[in-house]
Amino acid sequence: MPLHTFQLQINGDTRTLSNLDPRVSLLDAIRDHCGLTGAKKGCNQGACGACTVLVDGERINSCLTLALQYEGRDIRTIEGLAEADGSLHPLQKAFVEHDGFQCGFCTPGQICSAVGMLAEYKAGAPSAVTDGEVGELAGAELQERMSGNLCRCGAYVGIREAILEAAAQ
Ligand code: FES
Ligand code: FES
Repeated sequence: MPLHTFQLQINGDTRTLSNLDPRVSLLDAIRDHCGLTGAKKGCNQGACGACTVLVDGERINSCLTLALQYEGRDIRTIEGLAEADGSLHPLQKAFVEHDGFQCGFCTPGQICSAVGMLAEYKAGAPSAVTDGEVGELAGAELQERMSGNLCRCGAYVGIREAILEAAAQ
């Protein structure tokens, strides 16, 4: 298999990945070749959401995609959500204030997913729960929209409160 050298735009920085197997996943490229270890490898098969990152503002499971596909796209990881002066993203603040985590393993994925989810919700993207309608986020809507992100610690109450608070801001 010929190796490839290509560039990724991650958190506003250009990263050159040299001599990479074209089968390397976006998650492995981010973690192992760019040194950004916020996105986690939980299941590596699209079931847990721990690897969630944002591409052009949309959330994706980075373990299921090839890094090579994302050349030229705007990739954002948990490391790139805070402001340049270090102030946290409103969702990061809300997770801290509402104890939206215990061990923290799922947290980068939860927060990136919530950022993408709120953008989808505000854009009026329907979910399965409402069958074409957009329901109140405080109802089952939030549960359905965040159902791809699992938390083995069961910090769901805090996660829910944090997202609802950030959504209200
Ligand atoms: S590690 Fe990607 S969904 Fe679990
Ligand atoms: S905080 Fe431990 S897995 Fe979610």
